[in-house]
Amino acid sequence: MENAQNRPLLFTPITIRGVTAKNRVVVSPMCQYHSDDGGPGDWQMMHLGRLAVGGAGIIFGEETGVEARGRKTYMCAGIWDENHIPMYRRITDFIKEQDAIPAIQIGHAGRKASCHVATEDWRPLRDEDAEYGWAPWQGLAPSALDQLPRRYTPKAMDADDIRTVLEAWREATRRSMDAGYDILEIHGAHGYLIHQFLSPVSNHRNDAYGGDREGRMRFALEVAEIVRAAWPKDKPLFFRVSSVDGEGGIWDLDDTVALARELKERDIDMIDCSSGGISGDSEMPMVPRIEKFQAGFADRVRREAGIMTIAVGGITEAHQAEEILQSGRADLVAMAREFIWNADWTAHAARELGVEDPFDQMPHEYAFRLRQREKQKEMSINQGGAVTRAAYEKIFDETW
Ligand SMILES: Cc1cc2nc3c(=O)[nH]c(=O)nc-3n(C[C@H](O)[C@H](O)[C@H](O)COP(=O)(O)O)c2cc1C
Repeated sequence: MENAQNRPLLFTPITIRGVTAKNRVVVSPMCQYHSDDGGPGDWQMMHLGRLAVGGAGIIFGEETGVEARGRKTYMCAGIWDENHIPMYRRITDFIKEQDAIPAIQIGHAGRKASCHVATEDWRPLRDEDAEYGWAPWQGLAPSALDQLPRRYTPKAMDADDIRTVLEAWREATRRSMDAGYDILEIHGAHGYLIHQFLSPVSNHRNDAYGGDREGRMRFALEVAEIVRAAWPKDKPLFFRVSSVDGEGGIWDLDDTVALARELKERDIDMIDCSSGGISGDSEMPMVPRIEKFQAGFADRVRREAGIMTIAVGGITEAHQAEEILQSGRADLVAMAREFIWNADWTAHAARELGVEDPFDQMPHEYAFRLRQREKQKEMSINQGGAVTRAAYEKIFDETW
């Protein structure tokens, strides 16, 4: 008999501030390059909706730009306009109806702006692309340094730019709340604007926002403060980091632990431990993409900074996810690519880990049919294949 002691941790609810997720499975943010002037449409509804139906407890949408110029591409998502709010509201309503928590990751691409989509390897836009409406634009950065040659070198942000961008984070946070999200994540990883400030590879400033680690962390902490102040007290706030710039990174795990401690002081609830993405004036190789490749980062940040963490990267199996939680390396487990392959991963994982009613992870419309099928299978076996009408009706009553 299942009880609170022997139920898998992955399927034990977790409460953070005023929000309870039914399990600890997180859909990691996944850019879709399918937005129309920043706004989501039917594609995002289908993409996120099927994952909610599949049982994941927390569903992150893709990185969502706080400013139009803070997108990577013209197809990226954004929440810089009031018109975006009802478009996201439709999706958050649906996710909540499936008993899942809608979560948004907001970000700013900084110098990684103005390029083609992922299938074109983020090739920088050129003047010729203006012919069909994709004119290149100038990105922002801590320093006027590119990680690859572009039409416009990014603008080194002055005090006014910093104020404007901080204000954009605040407004995007307010819109996210109005759009119905229950969890918000600040994207501080993958070589985007916040990470560009953190890393000495991209931050060559000699003012208060550069120099030593404290200076390079200033922008990240100001974003955290402004977002926390704008986000409701009873809602969780996450922060995604690149735990290391790369193998042998210049921004390393000691730096991430120090940042996590500062974020904790600013009431950030969870550090989402990713890695890499800075590229540029360095030859650092990527962290090898092996099984559970970033779980060690989540473990160390959790132990040394005393803050909850998400393990993400190379997790595909139920037992891997459960082991990460059982060994206390992280509080949540996130996956991206496996969910593209198998949207119902969560319900299948519940079954694999021996959850008594795995179908309970899914909406009622599906769950009761699957429970019925189980009972029918059981009865057919017990009765040598034949099931009477009366027995069938009993199954229906029990599973409805
Ligand atoms: C299609 C795709 C899009 C992604 N987009 C984002 C994104 O918008 N924001 C982000 O922080 N990470 C993004 N990532 C990284 C994932 O969230 C995740 O950290 C990474 O894929 C490792 O997890 P996995 O091994 O389970 O795929 C993306 C990954 C994929 C595959």
